[in-house]
This record gives sequence, structure tokens and C-alpha cells, in this order.
Amino acid sequence: MTAAAPAALTSEQIGVLARAVSRAPSVHNSQPWQLLVRGTEVDLLERRDVGLRRHDPSGRDRLLSCGAAVANLELAVRALGRDCHVGFRDDDVVATVTIGRPRTPSARDFALYQAINRRRSHRRHFYHNRVPAAVHTAVVAAGETTGIHLVVPGRLDKLAELLGFATRVLREDRGYQRELELWTAHTHGWEAIGDGVPEDALSPEALPVAGLVRTGTPVPDDVVLTERLAAENLLVVCTDGDTRTDHLAAGAALQRAWLTATAKALVGSVLTQPLHLTGLRSRLVSELALPGVPQAIFRYGYPAVPSAPSPRLPLGEMFPPPGGLR
Ligand SMILES: Cc1cc2nc3c(=O)[nH]c(=O)nc-3n(C[C@H](O)[C@H](O)[C@H](O)COP(=O)(O)O)c2cc1C
Repeated sequence: MTAAAPAALTSEQIGVLARAVSRAPSVHNSQPWQLLVRGTEVDLLERRDVGLRRHDPSGRDRLLSCGAAVANLELAVRALGRDCHVGFRDDDVVATVTIGRPRTPSARDFALYQAINRRRSHRRHFYHNRVPAAVHTAVVAAGETTGIHLVVPGRLDKLAELLGFATRVLREDRGYQRELELWTAHTHGWEAIGDGVPEDALSPEALPVAGLVRTGTPVPDDVVLTERLAAENLLVVCTDGDTRTDHLAAGAALQRAWLTATAKALVGSVLTQPLHLTGLRSRLVSELALPGVPQAIFRYGYPAVPSAPSPRLPLGEMFPPPGGLR
């Protein structure tokens, strides 16, 4: 007797997956993904029409964002009590999640799934920098996998110098500033509908080198910046290669680390903005003796002040209309 094939998803279950994907972090909150459900296979598609020519000319951050969404998708499938296999691909479909038989989720996966709704970008101060060693180890371990390294940067003076330089350049870059303005959302809160970075996230309380730089953003000098970085917990997400698959895997790793931090009552934010400046990534590799290509910097700690959630597009927009991508 042959075993019955795994059951297809119900519309309620598809809704659970879509909600989890929608809460993933994404560059400028652009939410550059769609879902295609085919029985027991779920494709995550990259929306290449969502382009940030100044911030993300190569689309690397768009793939990192899709990688984070894939991590959420996998956790949601497991939380529904189904086994699954995730295969990264190299076309508009960036990953296919093949849903298998019923399987109780591990306590760890379930805790990460529950953290999906609580995670948000915290671009503000942290309470203090004492994150217990065991917590730090868990955050790093959640992200590390073959070809991915989460590294504590050693030379904070060098890092401050490079971040300060990038911030000053971007502050004066009018094309970059125009794009950021276009992607500034004037809505915020749990119920807010849309895309873009909320105005709140760019307010003066947001730390200059923790967030996105506007023309009026003050930049501290390198000494102050070094001290500020020393009061945070920082991880540089590095990959062995720099291919599309590396970018996807880095995004998924970042998200697992971020959700692990969230599950442990920590908050964080991610920085990629400076890494797009010509030559900056290779300077980081040499000055910080990194073991791979830097894809993102994750800062985390206990929150000194709360941060508001950002808006999301209606879930219906996540499903391509018949006939193809939007
Ligand atoms: C690949 C990637 C790059 C990002 N780069 C930055 C950045 O340079 N600066 C920043 O403040 N936030 C950055 N973010 C955070 C997004 O702006 C944030 O995830 C988005 O606005 C949604 O908000 P949320 O994280 O609160 O859900 C990045 C996120 C991703 C996934």
C-alpha cells in the first residue's frame, strides 16, 4: 500500500503563510516578494519591478529581503505542523518550499515563528550593552550555516571611520535623498497599510548611523561614533561568495538571528546602506579582517525606548494575478 500524498493547503493556512511573509524586514520596506501556491509547493517570487536604483542598484538588498521572507515562510509552514524542504533557485522564483507530512514543530522553530509579529526595526538607543554571553551565542548560532558567518567586528575605530564617511557621502547625494523621500511612508502603526519606511524611523531620535541618512541628519565625529558602536552589540553577516544564492542565504540567516534576538526580548536593526558605496565592502574586509563578503550589519540590544511597527501592503497584493507578475 502506498502512503497518501501530503494534503494541499487550505485557504486559512495560505493566509497564515502570507501574513508571516508580509512581516519580514525588507529594504526600504519595499516588500519585494510574491507567493505562488501550487498544491503542496509554495514559490516565493522576487518582484524585480521594485527597484531602488540609488540605494540598491544591483538588487542585492532585494534578494536579502526575499531571503528573510523565505525564513518566515519556512517557520510558518513548520508552525502549521507540516514538514518542509526549502530549495533556493536562481530565477524570478527565488525559492520553492515543498510541504511534506504532518510533523510537530520544534520548540525553537515555534518560538521563532511567534517572534515574527514582534520583530521590528529598532533604530534607537539600547538600554545597555550587557547581553548575556549565552544569548549572544544563540543569536550567532541561529544565523550561522555553511558559507555564512556572523562576526563581531574587532576594530570599532575603523568601522566608525567607514560608517561616518559613508554617512557624510549619502547625506550630500541628492539622487539618494530623492529616492529615500519617495520611499518615506507617512503612516505607521499596526493597522497602517502600505510600503516605505515610516517617518518615525527617520526622526531625529533615530540614531544617524543606525538608520537611514537624510540631508539634515547630524553625523557624530569618529571618536563619538566609536564610543557609540562600543555600547551596541554588532554582528557583520558575511558570506563566502557573492552570488544571488549567497544573498538569499544571507537574508535568511539574518532573519533567523533577528528572530532569535526577538524571542529573547531583544530588539535590533539592520544596516546595509553604507555597504553600497563603491569600494566600501572591500575596505571593511581588509580593515576588519572579515572572513567573507559583508552583506549586512546587525545591531541589537535591550530597548531603551519603544519603536513603532511599520506598514505592510494588503495581503492580496502578495499573490500574482492570473497571467504573471505585476
Ligand atoms: C536587506 C535589508 C536592508 C536594510 N537596510 C537598512 C538600512 O540600511 N538602514 C535601516 O535603517 N534599515 C534597513 N533595513 C530595515 C528596513 O528598512 C525595515 O525592515 C523595513 O522598513 C520594515 O520595517 P520593520 O523591520 O520594522 O518591519 C533593511 C532591511 C533589509 C531586509
